[in-house]
Amino acid sequence: MDFYDLVIKRCSIRSFERHRTIPEEVLNRILNAGRMAPSASNLQPWRLHVIRSQEILEKIYPCYKRDWIQSAPCLLIVSGDRDDAWVRRLDNYNSIETDLTIVMDHLILAATWEGLGTCWIAAFDPEIIRKALQLDSNIEIFALTPLGYATPDALTSTKKRKALEEITSYY
Ligand SMILES: Cc1cc2nc3c(=O)[nH]c(=O)nc-3n(C[C@H](O)[C@H](O)[C@H](O)COP(=O)(O)O)c2cc1C
Repeated sequence: MDFYDLVIKRCSIRSFERHRTIPEEVLNRILNAGRMAPSASNLQPWRLHVIRSQEILEKIYPCYKRDWIQSAPCLLIVSGDRDDAWVRRLDNYNSIETDLTIVMDHLILAATWEGLGTCWIAAFDPEIIRKALQLDSNIEIFALTPLGYATPDALTSTKKRKALEEITSYY
């Protein structure tokens, strides 16, 4: 698939085929795409969590109170350690959110390329995830996406975007 087709094809999926397993090689390619993400000073301050165990899924579901998330066979969570990220001395800007955003975007685009659905989720309760995955208090739980094959009705999304003229300035 052409890159421009890929970015148009990617859309948030909120309904999945619960019992359709993701082949291991597909999952590995997606994770590897995340691993290839750039990061400030190449510090790679991230951790990718793949949740497929029903026991752990059940512990994580309460972090996001939408039933549709339970239709996905897998959840991917991106976390990171602020202390491992690059800091600009000039003004103490810390690159953690930027680095983790890029990983997440790589994962989501790779998943789309593999024919899988995702939905970037930020409106979760991080403390529920922290407890379920036994993550230390210094670890930032940045983003979550369900991962799986979309049900046919979930693929009808049309892109609502501001016009290019509205968001672009030329100098
Ligand atoms: C940072 C971020 C946080 C988001 N959080 C949520 C969320 O908590 N729940 C949800 O259903 N969608 C969430 N979304 C998905 C957006 O609603 C979606 O990307 C946007 O409406 C555009 O639609 P599209 O992804 O289908 O192109 C989030 C997206 C981003 C980038």
